[in-house]
Amino acid sequence: MCLQSGYPYAGVQYSTECFCGNEEPPSASRRPDSSCNMKCPADPREACGGYFTINVYETGIAKFTPQVPREVAESEEPPVRIAFLLTLNGRALRQVRRLIKVLFHRDHFFYIHVDARQDYLYRELLVLERSLPNIRLARHRYATIWGGASLLQMLLASMNELLELGWDWDFVINLSESDFPVKTNNQLVDFLTANKGRNFVKSHGREVQRFIQKQGLDKTFIECDAHMWRTGDRRLPWGIQMDGGSDWVALSRPFVAYVATAVQDSHAQKDVLVEGLNTVFKYTLLPAESFFHTALRNSQFCDTYIDNNLHVTNWKRRLGCKCQYKHVVDWCGCSPNDFKPEDWPRLQGTENRQLFFARKFEPVVNQAIIDQVEDWLYGPYPSNIANLKSYWQSVYHYADLSPPPDDSLVTLAASLARMSAKSLVLKSDGNGCFVHPGNVHEVTSYHNNDNYKGSLVLFEALLNGGTEKVVFETLVEPQHYMTVLKDTGPSGRLKSLLVSSDYDQKEQMSRNFLHNLGPFSEPILVYQLDVSPQPSTYNVTFLWVDPAGQLTEMSEVHMEDGQAINFVKPLLHEPLLPGVWTVNMVYDTAVVAFTQFLVTPLQFVSGTNVSQQQAGFLHSGPGQPYPIHDAAVWDKLLDNKVDRSALQRKALVNARRFGLDLKDWIDSLNSKFYKVLDTCITSSSIRALSECERLPLELCENTEWSSLAPDPKSRITLVNLTTGRL
Ligand code: UDX
Repeated sequence: MCLQSGYPYAGVQYSTECFCGNEEPPSASRRPDSSCNMKCPADPREACGGYFTINVYETGIAKFTPQVPREVAESEEPPVRIAFLLTLNGRALRQVRRLIKVLFHRDHFFYIHVDARQDYLYRELLVLERSLPNIRLARHRYATIWGGASLLQMLLASMNELLELGWDWDFVINLSESDFPVKTNNQLVDFLTANKGRNFVKSHGREVQRFIQKQGLDKTFIECDAHMWRTGDRRLPWGIQMDGGSDWVALSRPFVAYVATAVQDSHAQKDVLVEGLNTVFKYTLLPAESFFHTALRNSQFCDTYIDNNLHVTNWKRRLGCKCQYKHVVDWCGCSPNDFKPEDWPRLQGTENRQLFFARKFEPVVNQAIIDQVEDWLYGPYPSNIANLKSYWQSVYHYADLSPPPDDSLVTLAASLARMSAKSLVLKSDGNGCFVHPGNVHEVTSYHNNDNYKGSLVLFEALLNGGTEKVVFETLVEPQHYMTVLKDTGPSGRLKSLLVSSDYDQKEQMSRNFLHNLGPFSEPILVYQLDVSPQPSTYNVTFLWVDPAGQLTEMSEVHMEDGQAINFVKPLLHEPLLPGVWTVNMVYDTAVVAFTQFLVTPLQFVSGTNVSQQQAGFLHSGPGQPYPIHDAAVWDKLLDNKVDRSALQRKALVNARRFGLDLKDWIDSLNSKFYKVLDTCITSSSIRALSECERLPLELCENTEWSSLAPDPKSRITLVNLTTGRL
């Protein structure tokens, strides 16, 4: 057994206490507001279940040392069986299917937890249970926010259920939607078979006190309303050796039974260590990064500890540590980057090491690297495989209640369906075909060869007044407007200047591929300059002008040649005035370039058509003057040929538009910012075409860009009886 030297005598019980902000919290910390159901308890001890004692186990040896894994089994052992615990979030359904496909073997098990707020992924994965008995989705789902205490609750509940399902597994390995294997299934099984009964967790490898502080372990956090509120300082349990690092682990069945049963099952014999740690970790940021490590080191399982999480992680802290989760946790958290082809040496370097998985991978960022890894492990796909280089990711599905659909996206999709219908009428060459668009079913972003190619709108329609619904899918492309007026300084090197939202600082890209913005969006300006042999820097000002011609915001930036993509987030008041906005780039006292973007008026609010009254509020702009320093000076630089009072009068008239008139306004704006490239018809609709036979349309199932085109790399079929794989 293994007690850290210097710790008190074995067998003695030590008390612990924690605080919940009854002292003045540090200035950066916040409290849950009054609408939060769970407030910080009046008695600070309630936040950790009161004082409790933790038993330190009897030891003989003073020093804890992690074990060295075995390369090969010591004797002829039956191969271990693995339960993959997939903890999923987001909408990358096809990548998740691809992950399941590559990991699948009939001897393994898959237990899938989908964040309770993600209807789409849950619904689409649930169907797998029907055909594959070794796949099961968690029914009791948690809203597992980034770094939240709920992540550990979810892992323990899932492990508990894994124990109760009657599945005969030896190890649990947790993985997310952005993990992918870097060794074959057989290699993983051989390695774990040689190490049956051991537990793989990765430790921080630095001084413990520093780890505790960096990790916020000495602070109490309360998870409430999908936020981790930091409520104050606390003291950690005495007599316990804290440890932690990565929350990606491979745990043996006996240890899982020890940590998960004691916590979840009220009839189970309570273990005082696990019970105590569970209480502490209910109020801990990033709990899964320390809970398992600490439970391992301080329990009878301490000599099964192996300091390896079997993962290579693509840390690029300069990009990944930007406090990007401030809206979710009162802490500055970091995330690893997605792998790209230039990271290949790092992946290849895992070959002779005991590393079996890598993170992170996201096909909307780069799919080529996923193809390369899969090819490396299992050989190339047949050369005639369809659509290997394509990727489709859902953006909207009509059946989703959660997360609630974005009104501006639903409005845009309906408008694009109308634009598509109009283009079909034109295509029918005046032979009287009338396409009446109905509900939008789905919006999907389409990527090919790691380029975004456009978005797909799947919608229903009636033809020529018929009653049978026909389903079309249309490919649309957002249009960008960047104009360089003077080829001087930075404008001469402008590579891109565009406005979107959902900027990911880590991956340096906007995740809003369609660039749809509505009155409640938060626009950001994304720019990049070309590389130059003699890099220069420039002081530039961006002037944001609303559709009524009024200067609304001024952003000052420092641009550098060849610098990575950068962004500016303006402070704009909501609701934004709908219509065409202009961002002027000022350098050396002149406007040298500009870009335009659209804020779409809303046709829908929470799924229903806006009333005239709602339109008046939504489409009138923020209703207060924009305070701009030296506005008159900047104003002089702007286009003085524009008749501002005419634009203002027009904006007032527009704000009164509703019903058909509102739709016309929306469509006329969108027709400038989006282009319908192509439309196909689904095979199930072909019968109804007799009404309108001469529509020259391909079947979506045969159209390479369509979301209905074959996608074998992500298709889950029947188990191959010879190999046991999919
Ligand atoms: C990094 C580290 O890899 C991880 O060890 C640490 O716990 C958090 O920081 P990161 O890539 O930032 O991970 O997190 P991500 O993979 O996005 O999320 C972690 C897990 O939480 C995933 O399983 C993800 O599906 C889940 N999650 C995340 C949710 O369920 N809901 C969310 O809203 C966010």
